Amino acid sequence: MESTSEPDIRNAFLQQLVATSDGRQHMLSVSVDAEEGDEGGIFEQLAEVVDDPQLRQLVERHREDEVRHAQLFRACLSRLGLEKVPVPDELKIIRQIADAVGGGRQGVRGANDVMMTYALLRAIEERGVEQFPLIADAFRRVDPETADVYMSVARDERGHVRYCEQIGRHYAPDQATWEQALTDARALEAAAFTRAGLANLAYCGERGWVRMDGLVGT
Ligand SMILES: [Fe+2]
Ligand SMILES: [Fe+2]
Repeated sequence: MESTSEPDIRNAFLQQLVATSDGRQHMLSVSVDAEEGDEGGIFEQLAEVVDDPQLRQLVERHREDEVRHAQLFRACLSRLGLEKVPVPDELKIIRQIADAVGGGRQGVRGANDVMMTYALLRAIEERGVEQFPLIADAFRRVDPETADVYMSVARDERGHVRYCEQIGRHYAPDQATWEQALTDARALEAAAFTRAGLANLAYCGERGWVRMDGLVGT
């Protein structure tokens, strides 16, 4: 058997998943939860601390975009005649990240908190920029309209990466501190992405939406 790279496995997984109606319902529900993941009201807290009017506008635009993204994915479900289904917490990447940093219970109080939060948000946005086109590719053959929605959301997430960079750097004491915060945030996000991804793989495998033996090259 030839070795199969992680992106190949991820692509094969997505192709299998969206081939079934149950799989499409699950994928879109996971996406709704990711977009609505702001359970701690993090943008509210950020808007309170970010007092520069221009940057504050970015915080608010970012929040509005995420609300709109959730609506776009919910509209895909409606168009397909599907309901949003619950997703277990261990599959939710944003929940996994929030748990890893203490559930956001400490709150956003000052410049350092703003910088740390935007480092994490940037890592999350980067993941969206990377993953949404892959999900779009998987949907392209079965449901091109949903594929287009994922691509338009991916474009917005690229803008969000820039917002995060701008605000995070503004609140960082210096460039080196910002870069270190980003390195740490990316490591934390990557660990959560792997954890949630494996939990998702097991969940979808148990329900027969994906076949594990179909995921690795032959
Ligand atoms: Fe989004
Ligand atoms: Fe975003």
